[in-house]
This record gives sequence, C-alpha cells and structure tokens, in this order.
Amino acid sequence: MSDFKRVLVTSALPYANGPLHIGHMAGVYVPSDIYTRYLRLKGVDVLSVCGSDEHGVPITLKARSEGVTPQEVVDRYHEINKRAFEEFGIAFDIYARTSSPVHHETASAFFRKLYDAGEFVEKSSMQLYDEEAECFLADRYITGTCPHCGYDKAYGDQCESCGTSLSPTELKNPRSTISGAKPVTRETLHWFLPLDRYEGWLREWILEEHKEWKSNVYGQCKSWIDQGLQPRAVSRDLDWGVPVPVEGADGKVLYVWFDAPIGYISATRELTPDWEKYWKDKDTRLVHFIGKDNIVFHCIIFPAMLRAEGSFILPDNVPANEFLNLEGDKISTSRNWAVWLHEYLEDFPGKQDVLRYMLCAGMPEAKDNDFTWKEFQARNNNELVAVLGNFVNRALVLTSKYYQGAVPSPGELNDYDREALAEIARSHAATGAALENFRFREALKEAMGLARTGNKYLADTEPWKLIKSDEERVRTIMYVSLQITAALSVLLEPFLPNTMKVLRQWLGSDSFRWDDLSAGGGTTADVPRLIEPGSLVASDGLLFEKIEDDIIEKQIERLMERKESNMEAEAGAEAKPEPAKDNIGYDTFMASDLRVATVLEAERVPKTDRLLKLTVDTGIDTRTIVAGMAEHYKPEDVVGMQVCIVANLEPRKIRGIESRGMVLMAEDSSGKLTLVSPIAATGNGSIIK
Ligand code: MF3
Ligand code: ZN
Repeated sequence: MSDFKRVLVTSALPYANGPLHIGHMAGVYVPSDIYTRYLRLKGVDVLSVCGSDEHGVPITLKARSEGVTPQEVVDRYHEINKRAFEEFGIAFDIYARTSSPVHHETASAFFRKLYDAGEFVEKSSMQLYDEEAECFLADRYITGTCPHCGYDKAYGDQCESCGTSLSPTELKNPRSTISGAKPVTRETLHWFLPLDRYEGWLREWILEEHKEWKSNVYGQCKSWIDQGLQPRAVSRDLDWGVPVPVEGADGKVLYVWFDAPIGYISATRELTPDWEKYWKDKDTRLVHFIGKDNIVFHCIIFPAMLRAEGSFILPDNVPANEFLNLEGDKISTSRNWAVWLHEYLEDFPGKQDVLRYMLCAGMPEAKDNDFTWKEFQARNNNELVAVLGNFVNRALVLTSKYYQGAVPSPGELNDYDREALAEIARSHAATGAALENFRFREALKEAMGLARTGNKYLADTEPWKLIKSDEERVRTIMYVSLQITAALSVLLEPFLPNTMKVLRQWLGSDSFRWDDLSAGGGTTADVPRLIEPGSLVASDGLLFEKIEDDIIEKQIERLMERKESNMEAEAGAEAKPEPAKDNIGYDTFMASDLRVATVLEAERVPKTDRLLKLTVDTGIDTRTIVAGMAEHYKPEDVVGMQVCIVANLEPRKIRGIESRGMVLMAEDSSGKLTLVSPIAATGNGSIIK
C-alpha cells in the first residue's frame, strides 16, 4: 500500500435486471465499502466507483418476458439498486450506468483503438440462428441439454446445474428461448480477442508477480492459464448494447463482458475531470472487488484488454469472495431463495448495520459460507447488544449520571488502566493489518476485541460500586472507558458506519482519524487521548436492540413457505408430460423393427458417466448396443434382463464402439429413465408391434 499515492476501488457492476440480495452484499459491496471507508479514515486519496451493468442478454430476456423495452428494465433496477446501496451506507463516489453516453463513447473508443491496432482476430463462424424470429441466438437465448451432466435447461453459455461454461453449439437438443424453434446454424462475422497471445504474459504477471493474491483467486487464474487460453469473441449479434464501431457491423454489439469492465473507466470519467490520474498513473493502486464467478473476467480478460490498449494501469489486487448460501441452499433468484435487501429494509428498519455486521462476520472469504437467521440473531444479541452496545451505553450513561456528561480528568493510571488503553493501539494495528490484506472477518474480530476489552474492563472495575467509596478511582475508570468508546467509534466506522456516526455525535466529535488510535496517536502523552477531559458527551438511547425469537421465526417461516411452494411447482412440472408429437402414417411406424432381446453382458464405457456397452441376444444375432443408461442402471442390474430394442437403426459409432440399435427406455419429464421390458418372459427376437 505504502508504494502507492492513491487507490481506485471498483465494485462489480450489478446487472440492472433484478434487485440485490445478501449474497451480492457479502461477496462484493460490504467488503469494498469497508475497505474504502478505512482508506478514507486514513486520509488516503481513494475513489470508489460502481454502477449498473445494463447490457447483455439477461436484460433483454427480462424485457421480453415483461413485454417492455430493455431501457425500461434498466431504468427501473438502476434506481432500485442505487437506492438500496445508499440505504446500506455503501458509499460509492459514483453509481454510474453503462447505458450512459459517456460509457458508450468510452467503450466504443476502447474497441476502436484495439481494432485499429490489429489486436482483434476477425472470424466468421457458424452460430445458431432462429429462423422464426429471424435473429442470431446469443448465449442465453438458447437452452438445451448439457453435454456434461444432462441437465435439460442449460443455457448457451453455461450450465447452471454443473457450472460448466458452454458454447451454444455444444448443447444437445438446442431450442430458441424466443420462439421455441429448433435453431439452425448460419454464418456470422465476429471479433475475437486472441487471449492465447497473452498467455505467456499472464502467466508471468499473475502467477509470478502476484503470488500475494488470495489463494481462491490465484488458484482459479492458474487453472485457467494451465488449461490454455482461447480467443474470445468480443461481439454479439444482438440489438441491445454498444454498437460495434466498425463499418458494416450492423446488428452487432460489443459483448457485455467487453463493455462492462470499461464501465469502471467511464464511471471515473464521469466522476472527475482528473480521471486519468486514477487510470494511467502507475502510482495508483487499482483494486477490483468481485464475486468468484467474475474472476476470469477481471484477472484474465480485462487485464488482457487493458494491456492491448496500452495506456491504462492493471489491477494490483482482485480480492474476490466465494459465495454466500442461505440456510443451507444456494441463493437463487428464480427460486426466490434469497434475503432481498428491500425486504430486509422493510422488516428491519434502521438495522442496516446489523446486516452489514453479520455479512462481514460471516463473509465467504476463503470458501462458501452459510447465512442463517439464527446466527444473525445470535450475533446481534450476543455481540452487538451484549458487548458493544452494553459497553458504550454504560460508559455514556454513567458519565452523564456522575459528571453531567463531562469527561472526567483521570487520576493516576494503574496497570489495568494502562493495559486497557494499550488495547486501543493494538487493535488499531491488528485491524488495519487485516484490512490491508483483505481479511475482513479477522479485521472485524480485532475491532470488536476492543469492545470486549472495554466491556470486561467495566465489569471488572465496577465503578457503580466504587462511586460511594472511591470517587477519584471512578474518574479514572470513566476516563479510560470513554477513550475506548471514542476509539471504537473510529475503529468500527468502516463496518458499522450508521451506528458509529450516531456514536460520534454523542461524543461530540466527527473529526477523528484512523491513525489517532496508533500508539501515542493524537497526543503527546504515552497513552492515547482521543477525547479531552471536560468535553461533553451525551447518549440518546441504545445503539442496538435485542432481536426476539418471534421475529426470527417469521423469517424462517417465510423461507420454509418458499421452499414448499418451489417443491410443489417442481412436482407440478414433473407431472406434466411433453406435448404430443405430430401424427405419422402407419407405414412409418411399421418401418421400425422393434424386438425383444436379452442382455448377455454389460460394462461401463470407460471415461463416461452415462454409457453402458451391452451385448444382447436379439434372437437373430448377438450384437453390441451402446446405451445412455449408466446413471440409472449398474451393469450387473441389467445382465439377464429382457429389453426392447430398435433393431434396424443405422449402426452408429459411439466412443469408438459400433452400436447397432437402441434400447427402449421411458424418460419422465425430470429426466429419469426406466427400462421397458416385456412383463412376461418371451422369446428373443419377438416382434413388438
Ligand atoms: N454484471 C456482472 C455480474 O453481475 C458483473 C460485471 S462486473 C464488470 O456478474 F466488470 F463487468 F463491470
Ligand atoms: Zn451440466
């Protein structure tokens, strides 16, 4: 940190196609805000930029499903999300949007510069095309069956069941999500960023020069680089986005993942005429806060773009988090399995800091973590109320009771007093060090450690008992307690900004700096003096309130209801069979030769999860059939069984094995397969008709 003159903090631009939930906050915005607030308190020149990611297929799909324009969708969610961030005290210097003219211009110029410099490879390729809707189908406009796990609602760019990235042409049984039509392939021209050219450089830059990156981030980068990087298309056939600024590129826009990270640059441009200082000066430290699904874009693709462009700095760190789950299940928008920020604000008005606290204490820093309402309640009641709130309340209430709110002058300090005061500098150093290294949970623990110290100090010294017998001692105790209280109002500011603002008002000072808490900070005395004897303090209520069981039970009940209705919906979907196919003539049916056969041998086809190689006696011959049933039947289950086969299918090579025929199986709408077998033993070769 010390080598830099200023810091530019970016936070992943959320898609403006839906509201925000606790997963977004825990993964990206709570840590980025804590980090930014910490730097501001230190007096570092720091800017924090964010904004809405307003392009991409999910937004056009949402618009289509609601029958409105994409612009209407992004206008709506931009406002909603911007307000939610404000409510939670996420203090961006700007919350921009990628549909703005500044962004279009910036992204367009960026592309053009790379284009003119010959940094792209132009390639014509076959893409899926919807003949009914007369358009190319990008990414999520296609669904089909995942070739890896068999999930039948995989998207053209990713299977959400097994997490594999896909390309649309890999999907089995692809369908257009616009018309439901079976897509055809057509030729189309696109621009590719040849990532393969940057492989050597990326290997050096990340794997050698950034060994300090978090191990989850470093590990993902290493695995991407080790697998070999491929050219990536940076344009799409779509009518929503930044138009490709090239002659004859009508109907083509920049791929959303090309333009969105440039959004960080355009946001800074919009924020300050001095923006180049933050993007082009090597003395600026660029830090990207993101979730783990964004790692490849921020660590590999965007840096390659920046390097190709040539005039920008590169990220110095990308402290990505893993995912937050909710009550044991993955957060899911489509299943409404989430705690939405707008719902939280309704149910817990004024308690934004409690959620921030919880999300920081349980931040999924190194691995996925689970949010539970019970833990939320426990952290509020046992930590915020019982430790922090209790300590601050006692310190302030006793001061007003004994001294009408005036900070007393201390007498001689004893060892215990000095020890307690020394904790200020110690926790200041430990919290700072943890924050510099993006260890937010540890930082919060260290900061709360000071509240524990204070709380214990008061409980041990019991000024409320001493006040009768040793007034001088009580003055010292209250003085020490108030110094700790003041230190807490600074140390916890990045984590609990709303609450600490209130506390600083009670303490009558809003001018504390982070380093006032360092050893000897803010004073020439050998112990810190943050708040002067004689200055007035006053409390007005409690910082935190206990959360009762019934409130928590209501939240849990709501989630359980959602889970039930999801299960019902899924069961309903399962019960619904596919619509009937078009009629065929009798002859067409009779042309297929269906027979009864007995399985003689069965074995798994090596390196596949799905395939069994069967040897069957068809009565006519003994032949090999490869069947996709290994996920449902073990080889030993089927040997000796009579099955039904299509005997006159054109032979087909599957995994190098010639398969002659097909075994009939019934598939329900959930994808479960059951073998079809004659209900009584019959001769092999019997005709099915
Ligand atoms: N909208 C993306 C997401 O939610 C994040 C974009 S980050 C940016 O996953 F760098 F592209 F802006
Ligand atoms: Zn899959």
